[in-house]
Amino acid sequence: MNAQELFDGFRRPSPRPLSMVTAYDSTFAAIVAQAGVDVILVGDSLANTMLGMGKTAQVGMKEMLHHLVAVRRGAPAACVLVDLPFGADSTPEAAVANSRLLMEAGADGVKLEGCFPDRVRAIRAAGIVVVGHLGLLPQTATSFKQTGRTEEDRERILREAKTMEEAGCAALVLEHVPSDLGKLVTESIAIPTVGIGAGPGCGGQVLVLHDLLGLSARQPPFAPARVNLREIVLGALRGYHADVSSRAFPAA
Ligand code: KIV
Repeated sequence: MNAQELFDGFRRPSPRPLSMVTAYDSTFAAIVAQAGVDVILVGDSLANTMLGMGKTAQVGMKEMLHHLVAVRRGAPAACVLVDLPFGADSTPEAAVANSRLLMEAGADGVKLEGCFPDRVRAIRAAGIVVVGHLGLLPQTATSFKQTGRTEEDRERILREAKTMEEAGCAALVLEHVPSDLGKLVTESIAIPTVGIGAGPGCGGQVLVLHDLLGLSARQPPFAPARVNLREIVLGALRGYHADVSSRAFPAA
């Protein structure tokens, strides 16, 4: 099944919500795929999770390609979506050229932040599946507070969602908006909304893998960890260090 068919299967009324999780390397991509998660996202959040950068806008095409190739190696049969990094879609022509590079490196579709229908139309015309991303936009945000609280913002986000659907998006990520707005947008368009901090009314959910596993330095309020992997890994490494130091490891 190609990515367009996959997302079309989650159009309203969908039999169940879609699940999406980020991955950035082959090991975790293989585990995410084995878990049956519908879509792997090679997010530009790799700036924070993998590269120790402060902002997602600091990663470029070179890093996205490098991590995308690793994810594809680990999950050869998965549906892999990849972010167009900041600046890579600054014009429709650049968006198409960079989307082609990402598709050649193994992506099934690309995601772009913001309301840019001309870029979406150009990518679609090149035969590439494209997913939008509205609400909080980490590439350009100056604050990471919830957005869409004022009447003006609510109307703008709803209008942008309809515009992005009309332009040809296969799905729409909605980040950190009030639950009732997430539900309203979801019920106002046919393509699936994929929420992150946008409430249970969305057509699917996406989480950053490091948040889900308890590896993030700062845990967003809307992304509770399901395991404290940081503590587990720390325990294993402390034990290893102690055993090497005391000659308990290795055994004879
Ligand atoms: O880069 C990313 O991980 C994302 C998710 C927050 C949706 O865009």
